[in-house]
Order: sequence, then C-alpha cells, then structure tokens
Amino acid sequence: MKSIVLQSPAKLNLFLKVVNQRPDGYHNLITLFERIDLCDEIKFILTDNGQISISCQDKDVPCGPKNLIYKAAQLLQKDGKVKKGVKVILDKRIPVAAGLGGGSSNGATALLALNKLWNLRLKPEKLVEYGRQLGSDVPFFLYDCSWALGTSRGDDIKPLRLKTKLWHCLITPRLKVYSSQVFKALGLKAAKAPCNNISNNKIRPGSVATNLLTKKELDVNILLRALRKNDFLSAGSLLFNGLEPAIVKIYPQLAKVKENLKRFDSLGVSFSGSGPSVFCMTESRFQSEKIRKTLSRRYQQIFTVRTY
Ligand code: C5P
Repeated sequence: MKSIVLQSPAKLNLFLKVVNQRPDGYHNLITLFERIDLCDEIKFILTDNGQISISCQDKDVPCGPKNLIYKAAQLLQKDGKVKKGVKVILDKRIPVAAGLGGGSSNGATALLALNKLWNLRLKPEKLVEYGRQLGSDVPFFLYDCSWALGTSRGDDIKPLRLKTKLWHCLITPRLKVYSSQVFKALGLKAAKAPCNNISNNKIRPGSVATNLLTKKELDVNILLRALRKNDFLSAGSLLFNGLEPAIVKIYPQLAKVKENLKRFDSLGVSFSGSGPSVFCMTESRFQSEKIRKTLSRRYQQIFTVRTY
C-alpha cells in the first residue's frame, strides 16, 4: 500500500457534565459524543526517508510537531522503531480550536492510517492507549461508532448502539477557544484523594447515573433514553454543557450567539465541548437548512450537519 485517503469527522457533545477536578489537574467528565458528517479529508502517502511532513491549505493549522497528526506519527515511529516516513495532505474543513474535536480526530485518523500504511498490526486497544497520550478527545475517534459515552477525562469510551440520526445547525464563531483556559475558568479545586465512586481517576461503571448526578435533569441516561425512543422533543430539552458558564465568562459575546440560535424553532441549543461552537437540534434537514440560510449573512462558519 502506497497511500490512503480517509475522512476525519468532527463531534458534538450533546451532554457534558464536569464531575470534579482530579489530582493530576484534568477533570472527570461524563459526556455524550455524537460523530457528525463535517469531515476533514486526509491523504497519507508512504515515504522511505523516515520524515513526517504535513501540508494544509488552512493557515490556522500548525503543520509541525504541534499537529496531532505529527505527534501520532512520531509516537508510532518511536515506539515501533519505524524507519518509514509519511507525507500528509490535510484538507481542513472542520474549524480549528472550536470544540468540535477536529485536531483530535485528525490524530486518531493518523493512528488508524499509519497502522495500515506502515504495516504495524497494532491492536485497537493499543491504538486507544496511544490516543490517550495524544489527547482526551482522541480515543472517541478511534471507535467506529456514531455515539459514545465518555467518562474519566472523556477518554474512557463506551460505544453506544444507538441508531438515532439527528440534524443540527452548527455555528462556529471566529474565536479560538482553548480547553485548558475554559476548564481553569470553572475554578474547581483538585480533590486531594479520589472520592467514593472514582478510583484511579476512573468513574466506576454503574455509578454514572446514581451517585454522581443527583439532579434528575443532569442524568445523561435520561437523555439517552429519550434518544432511544426517538423522543426528540425531550432530548432537545436535555442538551447540557457544564462548561457553558466558563465559556461565557471568558467570551461573554458567545451568550449572544446562543440567544440568536435560540430564537429559531428548534428542539434545543447547546455549546459543544469547550466552545465556541454552538449548535441546535432540529426535527429535519429542512429546518436546519432554513436556520443556516437565515443566519449565514451574520456567521461565516455555519453548517447543516447530521449524525455520521
Ligand atoms: O487532553 P487535552 O490535551 O485535549 O486537554 C487540553 C486541556 O484541557 C488540558 O491540558 C486540561 O487543561 C483541560 N482538560 C481538563 N479535563 C479534561 C480534558 C481536558 O482539564 N477532561
């Protein structure tokens, strides 16, 4: 095999609860990931010189060692004593630093592609281990699923057998938001010792609904139940992002974007990840397109997207 072309999709977080800050500074989360059809396209070309090179038409994308594709390739080369190299051509469509997991998805796609291109035969679990080293959102993109529950740093993935397909109108205001800044703005204090239902920085399975989430409306399982029943009206009202107060604290203008989207007839509106992307959930493609068309003069980065 000489080259591979892969789609690298974005995600939305339909639910994101921050449980607490961990002794290592990260935060324990409970999040519902949805893979969406807004995708970058990446071409990986095998080379013999051991070098990693990335080119991208979007000047916001770092093409050197900061890029998660680069980091993924470096990690695999170092660990597997790989002598081969790769030339990567990244066609960027997912906005950068937008809460859509674009960089993380690219990193995961690189792990999957290079495992084949360099003939490494790494098992899925090993790839997930590498994914964790690259970033909290990377493991989700290594699973071949549209829906998953993420716990721990968001990197403990439970793929969900959910057939639901949703339509959204998604706005990404032209602001770069850094997750570290948003999590810090939450102002949570690090727990000295792991608490009851969290050990080794992991939330014990089964404890998600009952122990950690006391408020009924903040239970991800209620949202999941609604999605399973195709009760979109309830599901829309259960969208939740616990990072919202921190996002709005740093960028108060984003509250206005959310309000603008709320004025339209949709099932619910929420931020994705650490922002600035805001999305609504609609009953149909028609409805999402209608919102997109109306708001496209005000926002340049506005998309109609669907579960992928
Ligand atoms: O894991 P990742 O590199 O994507 O995280 C970026 C930053 O976001 C971390 O350095 C940390 O400050 C914050 N973060 C966090 N808790 C998480 C995920 C990210 O505090 N679960």
